[in-house]
Amino acid sequence: MIHPTNKCKQIWDAFVLVMTSVVAVEIPLRIAMDLPFRGGLLFLDVFISSVFVVDLILTFFSAFYVNGTLINDPKNVAKRYLKGWFIIDLLAVLPLDLIFGTFMINVRLLRLLRLGHVATFMQKVANANVVNASLLRMLFLAFWVSLFAHWAACGWIAAGAGNITDEWKTTESLLYLRSLYWAVTTLVTIGYGDITPVTPKQTIFAIIVELLGAGLYGYVIAIFASLVAKLDVARTHFTEKIEKMNTFMRFRKIPSDLQDRIRSYYEYLWTTRRGYDEGQVLTDLPDSLKIQVSLHLCSGMIEKVPIFSGAGEDLIKQIVTKLRPGIFTPGDYIFREGEVGDSMYFISRGSVEVVSKDGKTAYATLSQGNFFGEIALLLQQPRNASIRALDYVDLYTLGHGDFQDVLQKFPAFMDHIHDLAKKRQEQIAKP
Ligand code: CMP
Repeated sequence: MIHPTNKCKQIWDAFVLVMTSVVAVEIPLRIAMDLPFRGGLLFLDVFISSVFVVDLILTFFSAFYVNGTLINDPKNVAKRYLKGWFIIDLLAVLPLDLIFGTFMINVRLLRLLRLGHVATFMQKVANANVVNASLLRMLFLAFWVSLFAHWAACGWIAAGAGNITDEWKTTESLLYLRSLYWAVTTLVTIGYGDITPVTPKQTIFAIIVELLGAGLYGYVIAIFASLVAKLDVARTHFTEKIEKMNTFMRFRKIPSDLQDRIRSYYEYLWTTRRGYDEGQVLTDLPDSLKIQVSLHLCSGMIEKVPIFSGAGEDLIKQIVTKLRPGIFTPGDYIFREGEVGDSMYFISRGSVEVVSKDGKTAYATLSQGNFFGEIALLLQQPRNASIRALDYVDLYTLGHGDFQDVLQKFPAFMDHIHDLAKKRQEQIAKP
């Protein structure tokens, strides 16, 4: 069985899709123009037919994923294929026109049904999140609209091309160009009226294309508008949030310096985490993924906290899932001396000052990789100093209960914290 991730198979699939698109362009044009079926065109037809036959056979030997489960049992693969795409793929390869004579040439249009593969592929690629999905969807939509315009042009030629003048009919490419011009102006509902239907057949065809054009035009505009809005979803959400905040601040007449601080806080949120609240993002994930993502998010901080560098993976995992992210703006007091302590903090980014109650004496400056707030938890006493943010500070908070839990399970961690707390106590106690 061929595995779905097999590189050669993936290249083959892409090649088959390109061939399917070639067919979608070539067959309607050949039928409309009544092009002689020999030479290059015959070769192309035989070549593409062979590609489709090989693809049909290969599909019976190709494993695939259904909702994340690999289906690679030959019987199962064949059963699913026979129930699904098989009929369409078979109709696309049967040389019905050769069997029943040239009057069956239109049967060749059945090959266009294979475009369903192209549509499925596009859906998969857009969902794969490799590049911007909205941008991809726009490109795919452009592909379908162009193909539809091509078909309308071919249909117009087949219906007799209306009142297109003879000078445009001197070569096939000129006739196609003029018909494509008619198709596009009609589909985008411009309809200059310089090319008009003459016979009843042309009039009926023009009405159908006009109706489809009106629908398609509205649909494309709506889809494009929503895709443009989604090009950068994070940015759109965030701008909306700021707009709401601005309206609120104006309405409640928040002082302008406070407004500036709020806006600069939002700017910081955008530059450091694209406006997302890490804690909120994690709540939607199952526990196993939560640990992985938390480990990744905290990895920068963990590498810099010396007590973690010697800790085992178990301890890190335990702690990481219990840490809650938080942000403080410059000048904020994270807590003040004398308050009851309910958590300790690890600094992920920025720096804080350890200061006296009145904020006038600074005992120390702590930055990325340092922690604070452990003494109150260890000795069950009020905070022995105040902590003030010097700039924007990203912190991870470990609650009292979780802190005790970790201490009990990992004595080495407890010893280290005890030693440091003692030193800090002594330092502060000095006059
Ligand atoms: P806690 O007493 O809970 O709250 C104030 C915190 O400041 C304290 O825990 C320590 O984590 C920290 N701290 C106190 N003194 C110092 C110091 N000299 N150097 C660094 N940090 C300190």
